[in-house]
Amino acid sequence: MIYMDNAATSFPKPPEVIEAVTAALNAPASPGRSGHAASLAASRTIHQARKNLSKLFGLADNRRLAFTANITWALNTVLEGCGLKAGDHVISSALEHNSAARPLARLVAERGILWDVAPVDGRGLSSPEDFRKLLRPATKLAVVNHASNVTGALAPARAIKEALGGVPMLLDAAQTAGAMDLEDVGTWLDYLCFTGHKSLLGPTGTGGLWLREGLALRPLATGGTGSASESLTQPDFLPDALEAGTANTHGLAGLAAGTTFVRQTGPRNIRRHDMNLTGQFLDGLAQIKGAAVWGPTDLEQRVSTVAVTLGGWSSSDLAAALEREAGILTRAGLQCAPLAHQALGSLASGGVTRFSFGIFNTAAEIDVALETLDKLSYQKMG
Ligand SMILES: Cc1ncc(COP(=O)(O)O)c(C=O)c1O
Repeated sequence: MIYMDNAATSFPKPPEVIEAVTAALNAPASPGRSGHAASLAASRTIHQARKNLSKLFGLADNRRLAFTANITWALNTVLEGCGLKAGDHVISSALEHNSAARPLARLVAERGILWDVAPVDGRGLSSPEDFRKLLRPATKLAVVNHASNVTGALAPARAIKEALGGVPMLLDAAQTAGAMDLEDVGTWLDYLCFTGHKSLLGPTGTGGLWLREGLALRPLATGGTGSASESLTQPDFLPDALEAGTANTHGLAGLAAGTTFVRQTGPRNIRRHDMNLTGQFLDGLAQIKGAAVWGPTDLEQRVSTVAVTLGGWSSSDLAAALEREAGILTRAGLQCAPLAHQALGSLASGGVTRFSFGIFNTAAEIDVALETLDKLSYQKMG
């Protein structure tokens, strides 16, 4: 098996992650609830995950980072809870995943918010100027997918924030957290959402959000926190305000280990590795008859997710043939991002076949993918 679907979830996980999950499952612990040693140990593990992520994102106060089940829950928490009301205006990029786009569409339908989408150019790149042009007095939030999970296109996040002139910005870092240096986001961003199971190398069922000092969110759910238990009101201090219910202890133990791996390897080294593979893949694709790349070819403007179509093949037939011929796992179709496909013009034709590389992929695997694509191209195009 050659795993090239890391944008969906990373595989393999480092052995330390599996060991940490197993150890947590073998411990009798409900973190932050009881006073016994096992419960305290579980709390410490979760604290380690919070500390590691705060270091990765350059956050001054790790209590402002709350864990959620995934980034979908984190995005919903911000979008539903940041106080948007009828007539408030939101701008998003054209590359939003459905986990941001569907909550936005529901806020439009049910709460009467107004939503504009900033266009992208022919390569699927966003420009800060396009966000600036959409600003109105009623603009209360901008939502930006840091890297497209379809094309890998990176948004110029900090420049967009500067163009917004004080309007708060929510960054969806699902595809960038752990894959590149984000150490400065805590100094300029308003809301950051991340998921734990992609480049942060943790298990599924982990993710979270951070909000800067001065912002507050209405929690999506209220419940037990192990703190202020005498009160029927959800605590208003972070992270407890946003962490109702028993934590996913074994998941967060795995995330602590995944983020330790990322910090020890170094996000810049991870990016260098990923970009070397992506460059090799893009160079090879340029030689294959009928192969087209949807998205930027400049490595500075992208991450290691590459959207491909091949003449004569539908995206799903191509993905199936790659698996059949060489055990290569990719993802076909729309990748839960119809807005991105609409902007690129690949919606009507059934989307693209997406290759996405991670820290454990090798140059030899890229060669196999290219050879297989070349062979499949020959079958249809001669
Ligand atoms: C850009 C982006 N945002 C959000 C998500 C949703 O992630 P999760 O399913 O972990 O909530 C994904 C997952 O593919 C994504 O790529």
